[in-house]
Amino acid sequence: MDFSQETFFNHLAQTTENPYLISVSYAEGIYIYGTDNKRYTDLISGIGVSSIGHRNPLVVQAIKDQLDRHLHVMVYGEFIQSASNDLAKKLATVLPPSLNCSYFVNSGTEANEGALKLAKRYTGRQEIVSCRKSYHGSTHGSLSISGNEVKKQAFRPLLPGVKFINFNVLEDLQQITKKTACVILETIQGDAGVRIPAKSYMTALRKRCDETGTLLILDEIQCGMGRTGTLFAFEHFGIVPDILTVAKAFGGGLPIGAFVSDKKVMACLTHDPALGHITTFGGNPVCCASALATLNVIQNDRLLEQVEEKGKLFESLLRHPKIKEIRRIGLMFAIDFESAEMVNRIVLKAKELGVICYWFLSHPYSFRIAPPLTITKKQIEESCETILMAIDNT
Ligand SMILES: Cc1ncc(COP(=O)(O)O)c(C=O)c1O
Repeated sequence: MDFSQETFFNHLAQTTENPYLISVSYAEGIYIYGTDNKRYTDLISGIGVSSIGHRNPLVVQAIKDQLDRHLHVMVYGEFIQSASNDLAKKLATVLPPSLNCSYFVNSGTEANEGALKLAKRYTGRQEIVSCRKSYHGSTHGSLSISGNEVKKQAFRPLLPGVKFINFNVLEDLQQITKKTACVILETIQGDAGVRIPAKSYMTALRKRCDETGTLLILDEIQCGMGRTGTLFAFEHFGIVPDILTVAKAFGGGLPIGAFVSDKKVMACLTHDPALGHITTFGGNPVCCASALATLNVIQNDRLLEQVEEKGKLFESLLRHPKIKEIRRIGLMFAIDFESAEMVNRIVLKAKELGVICYWFLSHPYSFRIAPPLTITKKQIEESCETILMAIDNT
């Protein structure tokens, strides 16, 4: 086993000049163990993925059971496989009746790509409305609808016909018109530093989409799967999207995403042209088995019922004069400080003390916390003590 930095830096493509650099031996529950036997508390769930903790035994068992049956057998959509059938049926039971048909893909960005294509194809319109400061993924389409200009500049030209509005600003909804195929929003803006819209805004957004025949796509790739205390964040606002996108925690640690809509909308991908969206690995049976087990764990362990209480405990313990503001919904936090430099020092100090917090893509004055929903009261108390120590020592 090669854990050398030499191989890592020379033979693996790098995304930044300063990677976080923990050499991982194994992971279990809320902990990641380094090859130096150091234990790290994963307070970010691998960026919103390990929401039921690392290697939940029931998820591992479901993966093993599927491994014993079959791995990939055919591209998406041709063979009947119980793993994807079971998962699609389960999703339809936990979602409102109009979200009854799932297209399984490989990642969050691909879920959004599929959703955009579906909206254009269904409405016959070309214009897309998205929000400033949003993040929807890193492929060309998703990058085009993401709001961070700095991340986009070098990769133009991007998709034409994308209009940006301000998130949670009622007047901007007038920019959604009968020319708009879809409006896409993160129900809770994640990488903008956890921005929570007003219920009245979400109601008005739904109404405007209905008035103009525009499809509403809600990206719950980061905020879905129980992160905010309801299985899906849109449940807080009493609205239902036309298309929902999920990924990250959906797979319980394996790569899978989905875009979900009503069958009558999704049906248009089968003709004019046929194969309107295709993927070789989408709906991989091992990933589907893992995703189904994850949903079962969330339900059977009644994890949603504990989210708000745990969130409040974090919030009450994280009191420090250097903390300017905490934005929180459920177990999704942005903790604001006076400068990006201070955030940087705290995140690195917390790492040294064995707690993983992390930066946001588009909000340098905060760090994020999004722990596994399975974290215990004692683990929350210990983690907060370490974070406060890190803040004190920077
Ligand atoms: C809200 C949101 N949408 C889309 C994505 C893209 O997901 P992926 O990295 O799986 O492509 C992310 C990833 O951070 C996200 O937070």
